[in-house]
Amino acid sequence: MAFFNKNSKSFIKLILIIYFLQITALNGQLRVGFYSERCHNAESIVSTVVKEASQREPRMPAMLLRLHFHDCFVQGCDGSILIDNVKEAERNAFGHEGLGGFAEIQKAKTQLETQCPAVVSCADIVALAARDAVVLAGGAFYEVETGRRDGRVSDLSFAEKMPDVDDSIEVLKQKFKTKGFTEKDLVILSGAHTIGTTACFFMPKRLHNFTGKSDADPSINPKFLPELRSKCPKNGDVNVRISLDNLSEKKFDDQIMHNIKNGFAVIASDARLYDDNITRAVVNSYLQTEISDLNTSSSFEKDFGLAMVKLGRLEVKTGLLGEIRKISEFSHGTSQN
Ligand code: HEM
Repeated sequence: MAFFNKNSKSFIKLILIIYFLQITALNGQLRVGFYSERCHNAESIVSTVVKEASQREPRMPAMLLRLHFHDCFVQGCDGSILIDNVKEAERNAFGHEGLGGFAEIQKAKTQLETQCPAVVSCADIVALAARDAVVLAGGAFYEVETGRRDGRVSDLSFAEKMPDVDDSIEVLKQKFKTKGFTEKDLVILSGAHTIGTTACFFMPKRLHNFTGKSDADPSINPKFLPELRSKCPKNGDVNVRISLDNLSEKKFDDQIMHNIKNGFAVIASDARLYDDNITRAVVNSYLQTEISDLNTSSSFEKDFGLAMVKLGRLEVKTGLLGEIRKISEFSHGTSQN
């Protein structure tokens, strides 16, 4: 009996050691160049797919940038936004309306699976594609840390915490704070709206019923309101798309900060950034830099890159907490572009 006990103890010890070693081996940290040994072409495969897609579809950079934000904000940057084989999938939530770029992520994943099977996570592809999108739109390059693993869970209800276009500045600040982001992060990340478009779907309250009296958001510059209303008329087609930055929709620059200050923000959540002392000061800080420093947009672009790295670290799953998903296992592979 004593002999049996001794053996069992050793056996349990051995199991624990193996388990510990496995966790240590798998529980990698995010780092730049995570795939350099096991899939050295990973980053260039993603950037080629993004480049080709953007040549075919000029909206692609904006869609891919938005996709990364929406992936990260719900359950962390874990590729869960891609899952579409469950009835109540996260990606069908109201706040995710208009998301695109799924087919391009799938395309990159398919190529990566051919070259290095089961190595590169979907979450990392989304993060890399967002960076490539920023660069293609003229923004500054930033290094993307990789090593995320994919989540397995997708649920519509998890998306409730997404910021809503009609949230007050207090709610926007709170939603970002809950995820570890400062007011500065909120402003600089919203600066992503320097590229891309919105559907009129997100505009009715701001343009036609701000306080329930058929009025418009008073923060809209009176010179801009007629233009916005003519593009998105009351009871008009909600699928019509208008630029988020009406002066330079396709260029990643700091124009959005000027727009916010001058009442030319298009969606309400951008306008709200000027409602609050702290966020207003952040917006102004980018404009002041411009006066004193000719190299201005680099300050906005540099900060944007830093904020994106922070976004990319949000609740990531490494090691045993996630997996390298084969996208086809979880997705019907539908194109939503
Ligand atoms: C502050 C909270 C935010 C709110 C309420 C918000 C809301 C929206 C809305 C309503 C649209 C239009 C969607 C459509 O019609 O397709 C949009 C587009 C976009 N958002 Fe945001 N957003 C927020 C933050 C962010 C962040 C942090 C990023 C990225 C870092 C981002 C990137 C984009 C991009 C690039 C587009 C254009 C997409 C396209 O052209 O298809 N947004 N956002």
